[in-house]
Amino acid sequence: MEEKTIPEYLQEVEEAPLSTKEQLENFRLLWLSKKGILPNLFTKMKDIAADKRKEFGQEINRLKELAEQKFEAAREHIETSAIKTKNAGLDISLDGMPINTGSLHPLTIIRNRMVDIFAGIGFTVAEDVDIVDDWHNFTALNIPTDHPARDMADTFFISQNPDIVLRTHTSPVQIKLMETQQPPIRSVMPGRVYRKDSDATHSPNFHQMEGLYVDEGVSFSDLKQTLFYFVEEMFGEGTEIRFRPSYFPFTEVSAEMDILWKKVNSQTGKEEPAWLEVLGCGMVDPNVLENCGIDSNRYTGFAFGMGIERIAMVKYNIQDIRLFYENDLRFLRQFVGE
Ligand code: DAH
Repeated sequence: MEEKTIPEYLQEVEEAPLSTKEQLENFRLLWLSKKGILPNLFTKMKDIAADKRKEFGQEINRLKELAEQKFEAAREHIETSAIKTKNAGLDISLDGMPINTGSLHPLTIIRNRMVDIFAGIGFTVAEDVDIVDDWHNFTALNIPTDHPARDMADTFFISQNPDIVLRTHTSPVQIKLMETQQPPIRSVMPGRVYRKDSDATHSPNFHQMEGLYVDEGVSFSDLKQTLFYFVEEMFGEGTEIRFRPSYFPFTEVSAEMDILWKKVNSQTGKEEPAWLEVLGCGMVDPNVLENCGIDSNRYTGFAFGMGIERIAMVKYNIQDIRLFYENDLRFLRQFVGE
């Protein structure tokens, strides 16, 4: 091999072409491999005059460092550009695809909130099936066959068995509770109910939450105070409500409660204050207590049944009840995180 000076070698290393895999391999063979220039120079050390050896050693070490540095840098460059070519069109630094997680339906959010409020003042939660017999839906609630009050809840009967009905309210759950427990009873009963009604504020399939409190000495003022408390917790202090005398066959006295909300006038498109009926309530009729085997001389009770949709309409200012059932994501997304 032709001898060159160390500065010549340094220059050669510096200028060596190192942009392809082949050039890299040639460089390795020429300089770094066992038979390459560098090991060869090291073996030459012993032939160098003792006084020059140190200097020579330092020089070839510099050459070695430079060759190794160039080799490593070129190798890394070639490898990363190989990865880039392989992944051309794929930018791994981009954000990932968003994952759509579901969220609670506004009616579920409101139902949970309602249950929480009553749970906070000692009400337990009871649920029951949607298909019930005539006794639980009507007769035990003081609505005998052919009673005109049945018209208020004209509903879906099964022609083969008129004794079975899709419940028209959650009140049959009251009956189930009173048939199976003795007072004190203090429960709320959320659930799905069915009726032959359909317009902007009525749906054939909607949700109610029944409430029942039976014990010694329960009075109408307990009922009012409980509902006042609920309204303040749900809608905030100062929310305006009103009680109207009403009639239900299973309560004596009976009332309905309305909340002042903002109704959009369909002609002008402007919001106007208006009363929306949200619940029926009253003192449980002694006949109903007796129908369930509870001594009406000893116990009194109050009950209420509120429309979960109605509460949600007031809470979120939703004008049309049908929005709850259309599964339009533009509507539902507004409640994410509520
Ligand atoms: N069940 C009635 C309805 O669906 C609402 C109701 C009124 C429930 C008075 C009650 C009550 O518990 O005491 O319209």
